[in-house]
Amino acid sequence: MKCTIATISGDGIGPDVVAEAVKVLRTVARVSGFTVEFVASPMGGAAIDATGSPLPESTLEACRSADAVLLGAVGGPRWDSLPGNLRPEAGLLGLRAAMGVYANLRPARIFTELAAACPLKPEIIAGGLDLLIVRELTGGIYFGERGTSPDGEAAWDTERYTKAEIERLLDIAYRAARSRKRKLCVVDKANVLESSRLWRQRARDVAARYPDVETSFMYVDNCAMQLVRNPGQFDVIATSNMFGDILSDEASMITGSIGMLPSASIGDAGPGIFEPIHGSAPDLAGKDQANPLATILSAAMLLSYGLGRGAEAALIERAVSSVLAAGRRCADIATGAAGEIVLGTRAMGEAVVRAIER
Ligand code: IPM
Ligand code: MG
Repeated sequence: MKCTIATISGDGIGPDVVAEAVKVLRTVARVSGFTVEFVASPMGGAAIDATGSPLPESTLEACRSADAVLLGAVGGPRWDSLPGNLRPEAGLLGLRAAMGVYANLRPARIFTELAAACPLKPEIIAGGLDLLIVRELTGGIYFGERGTSPDGEAAWDTERYTKAEIERLLDIAYRAARSRKRKLCVVDKANVLESSRLWRQRARDVAARYPDVETSFMYVDNCAMQLVRNPGQFDVIATSNMFGDILSDEASMITGSIGMLPSASIGDAGPGIFEPIHGSAPDLAGKDQANPLATILSAAMLLSYGLGRGAEAALIERAVSSVLAAGRRCADIATGAAGEIVLGTRAMGEAVVRAIER
């Protein structure tokens, strides 16, 4: 079987980390006996420089005709002064919307080998951490009406959700909960926001279809606090686009570093987008310092969610665990403990490749 993966390296450390994930995917394909072809396209700042547009039509075409999309990161100070709709980030948001990937799955779990990199007290994570944030990705304030008044004295963005957008996201979250610990927490700001009250209303109805899953509700400010007080209480968190963006950065740090968290963006049909949750870290670009593991773990999600190859995904996850168990660390997850060997981006990618080959 042959599959085609569209790659978008993007900006900053994007090219550094995507290169390692591609090596890992090639290795998995070779040892498991399938053929994989990579088609690289520009997006974000790189595409602005090359074509004037953050999301060229040819990139969208390449993504639509692929089996899955592997993405690095976009953005950087060079493009910060551009108007919003021409910024690198507009390319990413446009791609997510055009591909219809409305559900963004962001698992945060602590590799036992990395427990020392968690900034929380050991007793807080004694029970481990394994939660899944299901973030709505193509609606809400990211896509609502926005504007600036003619005199420049005011600006606004609108949080707007339809019942259908909420329900389809919750369906994915409930199905994910069914394959996990069967607990779903809907996170919102229903004490203030009308749109959050619609989330709660829809959640009560959708919950009735999943009686085997325990549903709870939490305000987002409380959730931000509970995540550092007792993160073990969560299984699946379902939330809006912006709350999910913020909470997933917070959850990532509990696992040791934002350099560890992968994500899968999926819709009802068509190829998914698989990308680390971290940004483009322009100061680290091209220095062989970025941690490629979030992108390598995103490649594992690509195999399981995107290509239906769970066994091959497990191969990558086991390889990452064994590399960590051998004390291999990138700088962001190093604690200075005895036995640690700090690796650059390429050496970390190589270490995972060799672990898969064994
Ligand atoms: C993320 C990022 C993006 C987002 C940015 C780069 C637009 O922070 O994927 O979490 O906010 O969705
Ligand atoms: Mg983010």
